[in-house]
Amino acid sequence: MSDWEGFIEQQTAFIRDAVGEGLAINALSGGVDSSVVTVLGHRAIGDRLKTVFIDNALMREGEPEFVVEAFAALGIPVERIDARSEFLGALAGLTDPEEKRQAVTSTFYRDVFGRLVRQTGARFLLHGTILTDIEETVAGIKRQHNILAQLGIDPEQQYGYRVLEPLDTLRKDGVREVGRRLGLPRQITDRMPFPGPALATRIVGEVTPERLATVRAATAIVEEELAEIETFQYLAVLLQDKATGIRDGRREYGEIIVVRCVDSVDAREATAVEVPWPKLHRICQRITSLDGVNRCLYDLTPKPPATIEYV
Ligand code: XMP
Repeated sequence: MSDWEGFIEQQTAFIRDAVGEGLAINALSGGVDSSVVTVLGHRAIGDRLKTVFIDNALMREGEPEFVVEAFAALGIPVERIDARSEFLGALAGLTDPEEKRQAVTSTFYRDVFGRLVRQTGARFLLHGTILTDIEETVAGIKRQHNILAQLGIDPEQQYGYRVLEPLDTLRKDGVREVGRRLGLPRQITDRMPFPGPALATRIVGEVTPERLATVRAATAIVEEELAEIETFQYLAVLLQDKATGIRDGRREYGEIIVVRCVDSVDAREATAVEVPWPKLHRICQRITSLDGVNRCLYDLTPKPPATIEYV
């Protein structure tokens, strides 16, 4: 048995022993970590693990369908929870980046997921925390990943409630390897990173359904056009400013989309990729065909001083 198979056996046994005859729940985002936890959990306890996909209105085009279908193909039922209006309501009127992130986090953990946990009576949460998350939390780089506190649950009052983190000794490359061995398709194991607060990190200023539709359409174009480029991450961002342009012979005050394509090893530093000029032209032409968008910019800034996302 290889080390990876040993790891899978060991963690499956850990989940099975911990949950016993009880019920567990996990939120699947479609990212690599939560996908691997979902498959491990189902291997361990079958349908006593309830897996939910929370539709927060901030996902990429076709994402909820893609995730539900990919797992149905693996024999794993995923319940799609429509929480779009809750998230949009929490984000309405907010423009400050930290307030926006906080609104997404608390709507997720405290309101939507918290309610699901209480409704199902699950006493175990399976969570895809990986070693890098723990290290970055300890180093103060990332916000605390304390699920219980985020759920507004006091472990003292709710004695017996446990969070299980079967991937907490792995880094991303290890998680991808475990995912492949568990039979997850490459489309999932090799996915590029996508932030938890989703498209909200790619809208400068207020997140509204209209602005989401614009950035979602631009994202789909960028992902389609750059799919063949092997790099760390690429994305589209909607700015808050507008610019003057001309469409159909008339002056138009339009939206500005930024395209970003970066290479990186671990997201701590990143450099802009030299995307071939014809490719950039094509992306620009497609993006400026979107309703109300009359400018498309390519971001050359490395990290630092920029970050990869804009919010
Ligand atoms: P930044 O923008 O900080 O992003 O250079 C570094 C990497 O992390 C992703 N990212 C996030 N992932 N929750 C996440 O799960 C977040 O709040 C978050 N913010 C950024 C980003 O996509 C990039 O890969």
